[in-house]
Amino acid sequence: MTKRPIIIDCDPGQDDAICLLLAMSSPDELDILGVTTVAGNVPLALTERNARQVRDIAGRRDVPVYAGCSKPMVRDLVTAEHVHGKTGIDGIDIVEPKQPLEKQHAVDFIVDTLNAADKDSITLVPMGPLTNIGQAFTKDPSILRNVEQIILMGGAMREGGNISPSAEFNILVDPHAADIVFRCGRPITVLGLDVTHQVLATPERRDRIRAIDNDAARATVGMLDFYNRHDSVKYGVRGAPLHDPCTVAWLLKPELFEGKLCNVSVETESELTMGNTAVDFWHVTDRPKNATWIHTADADGFYELLVERLSRFSDVR
Ligand code: BDR
Ligand code: CA
Repeated sequence: MTKRPIIIDCDPGQDDAICLLLAMSSPDELDILGVTTVAGNVPLALTERNARQVRDIAGRRDVPVYAGCSKPMVRDLVTAEHVHGKTGIDGIDIVEPKQPLEKQHAVDFIVDTLNAADKDSITLVPMGPLTNIGQAFTKDPSILRNVEQIILMGGAMREGGNISPSAEFNILVDPHAADIVFRCGRPITVLGLDVTHQVLATPERRDRIRAIDNDAARATVGMLDFYNRHDSVKYGVRGAPLHDPCTVAWLLKPELFEGKLCNVSVETESELTMGNTAVDFWHVTDRPKNATWIHTADADGFYELLVERLSRFSDVR
């Protein structure tokens, strides 16, 4: 099987952390060239640290972690400790990561890696504010030709916003970067709240993960139990939506999802609707179809995949 070369850009965050575990448990399909981190759910110093702790839990010393932008391109940083806790990955014991951060800035890593790659060869998987990706595309637009596709978590249409009435968190934090990404001309697949709100970590699903006897599964359950406290009350459901892992699940098993190619544009001017993803789902404009908007997920199939992949880990001491 040919492995797909990917760069994961994230702001862990419990759901980012679980997505990293899903990706790191799938070495036959995914060649993780690097994990780049950005300010989002918590400040950058925590997101990069959290990514390194997750790498330790996964036993993937081979995956380099880079720190990127500490603030959005134009707006002030907004964080989400009310959802993710003070550390971003509350629910597990925080221990000092075993390996240091790479010295290179994440934006330079993205630019250099894409510059050295073949045409249409690299998949970008952003699951936080799009600052690092927007900065990389701005710094060297020629790298775009080597991007095969972008699979991102962000945006909302039918579900409405989760951080403002009309915006999803990742897009609202850096709408200007999101605008650059949605206009970049490369194939984009969007896993927004319309689909992530179908993938709920119900007590039964958490119990299946709890039954797995390894550190990665224990960390996953710890994080889910914490994260669930806020979201199940907010949405009145039996489990928190597992947003970010939808990206990697789509890469591993696209048949679990259904989507439609349409135009997605980002609001960058109105304070009222800042960060809104205007999805032309019914093709009522002639704007170019720039993104596949995923609207449906097979939630049971998604959790089957997650349980199977988490079961692959052995404890790293
Ligand atoms: C997104 O925002 C963050 O809170 C999560 O990590 C996810 O990427 C959901 O809106
Ligand atoms: Ca995230």
